[in-house]
Amino acid sequence: MVRTFGCQMNEHDSERLAGLLEADGYQPVDSESEADVVILNTCCIRENADSKLYGTLGHLKSVKDNNPDLEIMVGGCLAQKDRDLIAEKAPHVGVVFGTHNVGRALELLEEHREGGEQVVEILEETVAADKESFPSALPVVREVGWAAWVTIQIGCDNNCAFCIVPSVRGVEVSRPFGDIVREIEIAATDGVSEVTLLGQNVNSYGRDITLDLRNRVGSAGVPEPSEIADLAGRSFANGQTRARPLFADLLRAVGAIEGIERVRYTSPHPKDLRDDTIAAMAETDSVCAHLHLPLQSGSDRILAAMHRGYTADRYLSRLSRARAAIPDLAVSTDIIVGFPGETEREFAETLEVAAEARFDNAYTFVYSPRPGTEAAEMTAQFVDHGVGVERMKRLRAVVERSSKLAQVARIGNTETVIVEGPSKRNPDRLSGRTEHNRLVHFTPPAPIRGGSVVSVRIVEASITNMIAEFVEVVREPTHKTRIPVTAG
Ligand code: 5AD
Ligand code: SF4
Repeated sequence: MVRTFGCQMNEHDSERLAGLLEADGYQPVDSESEADVVILNTCCIRENADSKLYGTLGHLKSVKDNNPDLEIMVGGCLAQKDRDLIAEKAPHVGVVFGTHNVGRALELLEEHREGGEQVVEILEETVAADKESFPSALPVVREVGWAAWVTIQIGCDNNCAFCIVPSVRGVEVSRPFGDIVREIEIAATDGVSEVTLLGQNVNSYGRDITLDLRNRVGSAGVPEPSEIADLAGRSFANGQTRARPLFADLLRAVGAIEGIERVRYTSPHPKDLRDDTIAAMAETDSVCAHLHLPLQSGSDRILAAMHRGYTADRYLSRLSRARAAIPDLAVSTDIIVGFPGETEREFAETLEVAAEARFDNAYTFVYSPRPGTEAAEMTAQFVDHGVGVERMKRLRAVVERSSKLAQVARIGNTETVIVEGPSKRNPDRLSGRTEHNRLVHFTPPAPIRGGSVVSVRIVEASITNMIAEFVEVVREPTHKTRIPVTAG
């Protein structure tokens, strides 16, 4: 059983872990009491991640008391950060591993079983074996058969003052272009029709690869064109030598794969969102007209203190260019309120920019310090938590206004939805998502399988979801298996 605490990158690692376990003969189970191995895949981006983890570990201690053969493993960013603390606080944990050696999880379990001692392996950099196999060569168990998450890049070269990612995930390493395309081609033949490309800073995808290639031209000799194409894609191989990001090429290549109907990606960095990416989105039909562009703050002083590398005006002008090029673009964002030193006036600037940006959706956070980050040291400037919570409420009101307007404007439209399954609230209804990632519920005339593409007419809309009338099934899904991965 694999339990995930946290972000999408983590969920993807969990799919890889579940794949490794299955390849080794393990079966997924629904509860800890039936499990032989429980892997807790942790995240330190979300608030209170550590108290949730220690709470779960406390509960697992009693499960292990009843079943001493149970093996408990802890991986992910929190393990990377709190290596010794977990080992010390929870001696019943058999293996602690980090973010750079996910592919070694089962070997570490074997090591622990043989020696009986707790095994802790945390690496500062991705190990060669993991790099080669990261993550395409590892079997992946998908949560749903028609949708796949594909990591295109790990780590982050930025240094946002609030963010723990660079210290736990390391520098940016891009996966070879050919590996990504091949993985998605294989997934498409398995019936996958929607892919989400994952990276901390997808717009710089491939910068490291092309820099490497350029350096090799100077020293180790000119690489063969076929090798260049495999590492950096055909468009790059066609005569270019300049080091440059490859994300736009990747969007086009993935979008052209037969059977792939929707391509999503997360997250671009506003300072690196280039016109070629916007053009690739506009010109590639399968790339969803949805942009998740983290704003973080609307105040130029706070943006500078965060080291974000753009101003509010620059953010808004990037956004207008994207909207001008991509018709009917949905835009979502991340915003932090109460960053150390944020004044009421500076917060009001965030409200103004949020109103001007007319977001369809926003993930809003009250700043909370992550130990080891630059902002966590700014204790003298910490904003009172109550003030942060109150600012977030005001920000939510602004975001909800634009988000409601955008939803209501769709009433009467016919939209294409990929069905996810029965609605959680009303099992007679099905739920699915539009290309804008809007949640739609509708009553089907007959059973419809998850993964089917259907056409519906929107009849009602609220901030969070839309109600629609069924029109027709556009396409049945082609995937065969559905193996659940338990998420916590
Ligand atoms: N405090 C609050 N929110 C944070 N995020 C990242 N670090 C912090 C922090 N220390 C938010 C950012 C990021 C999202 C994934 O989480 O908005 O984009
Ligand atoms: Fe963190 Fe900034 Fe990198 Fe995003 S770009 S992962 S916020 S350091």
